[in-house]
Amino acid sequence: MDRPDQTTHFGFRDVPLDDKQTLVNDVFHSVASRYDLMNDLMSVGLHRVWKDLMVTALNPPRADAPFALLDVAGGTGDISFRAAKAAGSGFKAVVCDINSDMLGVGRERAVVRHLDDRVSFVEGNAEKLDFADGAFDAYTIAFGIRNVPRIDLALSEAFRVLKPGSRFLCLEFSSVDVPGLDRIYDLFSFKVIPPLGRAVTGDAESYRYLVESIRKFPKPGIFAEMMRTAGFSRVGWQSLSGGIVALHSGWRL
Ligand SMILES: C[S@@+](CC[C@H](N)C(=O)[O-])C[C@H]1O[C@@H](n2cnc3c(N)ncnc32)[C@H](O)[C@@H]1O
Repeated sequence: MDRPDQTTHFGFRDVPLDDKQTLVNDVFHSVASRYDLMNDLMSVGLHRVWKDLMVTALNPPRADAPFALLDVAGGTGDISFRAAKAAGSGFKAVVCDINSDMLGVGRERAVVRHLDDRVSFVEGNAEKLDFADGAFDAYTIAFGIRNVPRIDLALSEAFRVLKPGSRFLCLEFSSVDVPGLDRIYDLFSFKVIPPLGRAVTGDAESYRYLVESIRKFPKPGIFAEMMRTAGFSRVGWQSLSGGIVALHSGWRL
């Protein structure tokens, strides 16, 4: 049970734990219609490479065997669309996100891509998933978990809804570990991204939150320990692009 005085981070601000989700939801309501364009601009297209690497690691079956993916905090559907394109005809994905505006953009994209029969969109909270125990063959969460107020609950829920023998993959911003790149990255994050956010979405503050929240996310070794605590085995991570991003992996055995 949460204590009423518990706090957490919203970017660099300390906020009551119960307020964080509302603040996060405001960010994604504000940027939803321009979210995909901003991803390309902010990452100079690199988010596509990172997401493709996640789908390569997921390795969905090419054959017709049934395979059910749960893509939590899946937003506008990027991971599920990529996985559906890589997979055989037995593949289905559920994109679960707390934000109806992000899901609305995702549903439209699914229709345009003729993937609406294989990728469905469901509103839900990562901390309390409305799915049965052991319902999924894989769970992905890309650039989502740092926005969830109670990461430990989200990890426990991930473990619960996975079938024994199936995989959890989390793509998340990490800590740049290349001397020189860290200063360029900080400069770009704090001096370029918020003004770019203002120019494209009219909202600099949301993008300030996004870059601050990256700095507050636990280092990969600590996150790996949180995954083990939730029950995952064979936990590990791969650092990408000099540590800008990490791909975390664990198994429910
Ligand atoms: C940065 S976006 C990532 C979207 C997508 N996975 C991608 O990689 O493009 C983060 C998403 O997390 C969602 N989110 C935040 N808190 C959540 C929660 N508690 N449960 C489910 N989704 C949440 C937001 O609504 C938003 O769509």
